[in-house]
Amino acid sequence: MQVDIGNALAEVATPGIPREALDRLDDRVAAAHERIEEGRANDEHGYATLNQPANVDVDAIQAAVEPFADCENLINVGIGGSALGAATISAALDSDVEAYYLDNVDPKWVADHLESIDLSKTALNVVSKSGMTAETLSNFLVVREAMEDADVDWTERTWVTTGPEGNLRDLAEKHDLPSLPVPDGVPGRFSVLSTVGLAAAAFQGHDIEAILDGARDAADALGPSLFDSPAYAYGAVNYALDQRGAGINVQLPYAESLETYAEWYSQLWAESVGKDGVGQTPVRALGATDQHSQLQLYRAGPHDKMVTFIRPQERADTTIPETELEGLSYLGGSTLGELIDAEFEATEASLANAGVPNVRVEIDRVDERAIGELLYSMEAATILAGELYTVDAFVQPAVEWGKKATRGLLGGGDFEEADEVAEKTELTIE
Ligand code: PA5
Repeated sequence: MQVDIGNALAEVATPGIPREALDRLDDRVAAAHERIEEGRANDEHGYATLNQPANVDVDAIQAAVEPFADCENLINVGIGGSALGAATISAALDSDVEAYYLDNVDPKWVADHLESIDLSKTALNVVSKSGMTAETLSNFLVVREAMEDADVDWTERTWVTTGPEGNLRDLAEKHDLPSLPVPDGVPGRFSVLSTVGLAAAAFQGHDIEAILDGARDAADALGPSLFDSPAYAYGAVNYALDQRGAGINVQLPYAESLETYAEWYSQLWAESVGKDGVGQTPVRALGATDQHSQLQLYRAGPHDKMVTFIRPQERADTTIPETELEGLSYLGGSTLGELIDAEFEATEASLANAGVPNVRVEIDRVDERAIGELLYSMEAATILAGELYTVDAFVQPAVEWGKKATRGLLGGGDFEEADEVAEKTELTIE
């Protein structure tokens, strides 16, 4: 993976980072790196994330999915960090096996899925680190009833990925369901390179060793200077631009297969860094599609944004047919790949020309190894940013607040958060 931060410099963009400021920031990166390496060496909570590529038991994951090899589909029930990493890999890589991610409890959407999926050929992976998340447990109960209604023995079709305690663990034990552990000391949003993200990938036939190899490449590239480490360069530049007023970071992948990646990154960054009154807001977009919608604002609106361009350097391609119209001759014979690359470069230049800071992130191609490298790098970038913002990147009190309020409202326990729901200020206009 390579990161080009040239268009984030003050000589190009406003806000932008003066070169001397980048040098000063590099001293802070070195100190942060030391702290991160210490946490990593001690397998401290959160920093243990960076040890995942070495700690994953690939054989255990393969063995867990092997009994379901005759299934043609997978339903993955989970939410947030227990869904988005696996969904990112599924969306990025082609497979003959379909994976569906039930990460919402919108009733119509869930019902539509269950009606359209052939449950007789479907395996179910229920993923929850805590084993207590209401959305995940509810969807599990709904899916297993749908399987019963379809005369499918759900106990033969289900495995769980969960921690040592919680409602999901209890259900797994009661029904003797096979289970995979979740890693210790790794928050959900950092768990893509573990059982949480890799079991679905193995089920879909992806080479999870290659994903981990890519992650190892990214781990080897971490170092004390942002000028030698693409992951740290990205995390540090996001932080520095945020400090100078670019409080929004638009994720703009130029590949449909990376659209879910933008969702994963947004959760990772927002939930890790957004606390104590700081944090840069991630926004999801897609190139080239959003050139025809949001780009107007990004180029000509307030200078409160940076844009992250992400693209594979190689991709499968399709030739645009020759045409009978002279006016279209510039398209005929070239390829869709050339077109999307031209759009990428033109948009990047148009933002630089308007002084909008932007960063280019490139991977070799969208394959297992490159995805592993990208995911690991962004986890490292986020951990570094947590150090620079001086926030604890590994907790999510705001998310927990909502979980408690929901459970309280449904009668799942006494939570003061639920009482506050009744205190809502109303000013309804009809
Ligand atoms: O990153 C996180 O910690 C969260 O997004 C969790 O992954 C999410 O809330 C789901 O939690 P759990 O895996 O406990 O069901």
